[in-house]
Amino acid sequence: MSLLEVQGLHAHYGKSHILHGVTLAVPEAAIVSLLGRNGSGRSTTLKAIMGLVPPSAGAVSLAGRDLTGRRPYDICRQGIGFVPEERLVFPNLTVEENLVMGMQKPVTGAPAWSITQMYDYFPRLKERRAVRAGYLSGGEQQMLTICRSLLGNPRVLLIDEPTEGLAPQIVEVVMDVILDIARRGVAVVLVEQKLTIALKIAARVMVMGHGEIVFTGTPADLARDPEIRRTWLEVA
Ligand SMILES: Nc1ncnc2c1ncn2[C@@H]1O[C@H](COP(=O)(O)OP(=O)(O)OP(=O)(O)O)[C@@H](O)[C@H]1O
Ligand SMILES: [Mg+2]
Repeated sequence: MSLLEVQGLHAHYGKSHILHGVTLAVPEAAIVSLLGRNGSGRSTTLKAIMGLVPPSAGAVSLAGRDLTGRRPYDICRQGIGFVPEERLVFPNLTVEENLVMGMQKPVTGAPAWSITQMYDYFPRLKERRAVRAGYLSGGEQQMLTICRSLLGNPRVLLIDEPTEGLAPQIVEVVMDVILDIARRGVAVVLVEQKLTIALKIAARVMVMGHGEIVFTGTPADLARDPEIRRTWLEVA
């Protein structure tokens, strides 16, 4: 049994049928990357797992416990954290206040995190801890959003395009942190646009196309499959 199991998930926005039976499994402490072109349904998959978009069919379970149809807050408390594409910080609260807002009780089976550890990961946030989050750069807001989600002590963290629009050095820092949190026992589902990053850090990669998983394998499998890359990833 995998830690997170998603079985035959369907989702709609109004009358638009977006997810057509997404099935995926995430082992303990593994990084799994979800790739695909714009509009392929990657963000919707994460939102449907979180209950932010109610699945119209299918099931989501964490460590064997069925979470299908639960409220997003409850799904989060059960151990699934979410870092959305749009960096969600409280702009009028300081960096440190934002971190405090993210703190939750320990979750069984998940490592517990402290604000000190967040500052060790991102010394820049420590320097700016008294600054209101609305004044941070995009990269700093991304770091803050990741830290706030980690402080909820998730067993699995769903991260949507964390490197989008970041300077290359910051991309490196964020990737190192993601590798380290997995090393410490948090599984990660990473939605990425950049194939090189996904291939470098993920244990398994999945490719989405038109609301379905069209490929699952190791990074090496994908690297030697030009057909899949041409059909589902590269911009024509
Ligand atoms: N709130 C919404 N209402 C209606 N349609 C939506 C909504 N959000 C997304 N869609 C549509 O659902 C499809 C899948 O979108 P999704 O955001 O999951 O894609 P994605 O793979 O994350 O790509 P990207 O992040 O590059 O847009 C797209 O066709 C998109 O236009
Ligand atoms: Mg998206």
